[in-house]
Amino acid sequence: MAQEPIILDWQDKHAELFGNHMIRLKHRLHESPIFTDEALARLIERIPREHYHVNTMNQEFHDPTSWRDGEISGVSGEEVLAAVRGGKIWVLLQRVAEVDAGYKAALDQVFAEFEEKVPGLKTFKQKMSILISSPKIQVYYHCDIPGQSLWQIRGRKRVYIYPNTAPFLRQEAMEKIVLNEADEQDTPYQPWFDDYAQIVDLEPGEMLHWPINGPHRVVNYDCLNISFTTEHWTTALRNRYANHYANGILRRSFGVSNPQISEAGPALWAKLALAGAHRFTGMQKKNRLTYKVDFRVDPKAPFGMRDIEAYELAK
Ligand SMILES: [Fe+2]
Repeated sequence: MAQEPIILDWQDKHAELFGNHMIRLKHRLHESPIFTDEALARLIERIPREHYHVNTMNQEFHDPTSWRDGEISGVSGEEVLAAVRGGKIWVLLQRVAEVDAGYKAALDQVFAEFEEKVPGLKTFKQKMSILISSPKIQVYYHCDIPGQSLWQIRGRKRVYIYPNTAPFLRQEAMEKIVLNEADEQDTPYQPWFDDYAQIVDLEPGEMLHWPINGPHRVVNYDCLNISFTTEHWTTALRNRYANHYANGILRRSFGVSNPQISEAGPALWAKLALAGAHRFTGMQKKNRLTYKVDFRVDPKAPFGMRDIEAYELAK
């Protein structure tokens, strides 16, 4: 059965650019019933605690120390949307394809289309996360471990995408993230990096895909924003991950000061073996990230949030 395509303006050149350079494409998911206020409100009400984050942070400038975690409790999905619309928070709904068949169908179709269009592309472990965010809020400079795309549904945001090499992303920083010693947000940022960024004003019905681990940051315009990210893995991405993982171990346990990236052959196999052995034999101490939760979403409170007594949440 022929489905309506999700990607609307694919050209042959995009197959060559995919994964290696930033691409910007038009899509039709901003018109889908899975992204109406009604659908999102019901999703917010159903999402398990371990699959969402509510956060607030300094809106004026890059200040990771201002980052706070909150909770949703005792309010309807519509009230959460109202709090975001009038507040200074964002709601991140993770792994939504595991919660609702509508998002799963959209996610599956997106990657079926990419795999059909990009010769040799075979993806796995795809995930979709929805971000509902207040006017003017920022996502600070960070990088992600898997392949990443950003899809705009409502509102407008400015997206800055930086090269995935030093000084914008240093190998040591990537290894720390892969070894779970640091959060993705801990990627060091300097304002002058912006001079080397690709800058895009993303509109509803547009998406971006950028090279693996490419650092990025986002600033909302003065309007509620709804967007989602997709992430995926390929064998090449997994090999790169194993390289960072193994290099991090070599640096820490074996005193290797400048471990190299091994793309193929015995050097790559050794990296895969080292990363695999380390993970599966439990040599890595399990570094679960813990969050201090100290506010609750409240549409009647200033900024859409009310302080509560802080408690720890491990994820
Ligand atoms: Fe990201």
